[in-house]
Amino acid sequence: MDTLKPENLPEHLAVIMDGNGRWAEKRMLQRIVGHQKGVETVRVIVEECSRLGIRYLTLFAFSAENWLRPKTEVKALMALLKKYIRAEIARMMQNDIRFNVIGNRADLPPDIDREIQAAMDRTANNRGMLLTLALSYGGRQEIVTAAKTLAEEVAAGRLSAEAIDEKMLSGSLYTAGIPDPDLLIRTSGEMRISNFLLWQLAYAELYFTEVNWPDFDRNELARAFRDYQSRERRFGMTSDQLRKESA
Ligand code: FPP
Repeated sequence: MDTLKPENLPEHLAVIMDGNGRWAEKRMLQRIVGHQKGVETVRVIVEECSRLGIRYLTLFAFSAENWLRPKTEVKALMALLKKYIRAEIARMMQNDIRFNVIGNRADLPPDIDREIQAAMDRTANNRGMLLTLALSYGGRQEIVTAAKTLAEEVAAGRLSAEAIDEKMLSGSLYTAGIPDPDLLIRTSGEMRISNFLLWQLAYAELYFTEVNWPDFDRNELARAFRDYQSRERRFGMTSDQLRKESA
């Protein structure tokens, strides 16, 4: 097996962590056990990405649509989240990780939001990997919010409609200041984007694996990175142009 080229790892990795429920159901366990196992995978993957020097890691932890799940599952997921954030601050400090959340934070229970704020404040001066959890996040909702912000600026006379360009729209998203993902991984065999980072994934390489999130480990991550390293990212150009650019 080829080894990983450290100089060609994604700068920004985004992950749709899917398959916790199926992992549990296959074993005749409750879905929440799958989520608990999923949190262990989060720990392993965060630590490994940080060790490998990944600059940005964005994890889809709870979608705007996930509120429609049974109340007991939503409650259990929120409790897991709170426990995770609290327990991980020390490790984030050790690993120089900065913690961040994107999504509609106003939807989150106040105690979780306080925990998030505390973790963001504690880790604000860290300079290693930026770990972003997408919580109550929806890509379309994010774009609508950005459009509203810009429309308000135009209505107030502080901005002309002609001045709105891609850079400005990007800068109005939750991910302002974060480069677009280079690679998206989705686990559990589903091949959809599911309203995740719709704008930001425009040129990302997509990697799908059958492995459920609780079984995703360092080896699976290395497999995804090797696959990424075998791809040619052309951004709309020809291979020939790319060769000339990098010469
Ligand atoms: C998908 O599994 C996963 C989620 C809806 C949430 C992901 C959450 C975690 C990994 C745990 C909490 C996260 C953190 C960061 C502490 P699914 O339930 O959709 O699985 P299924 O498609 O097999 O039903």
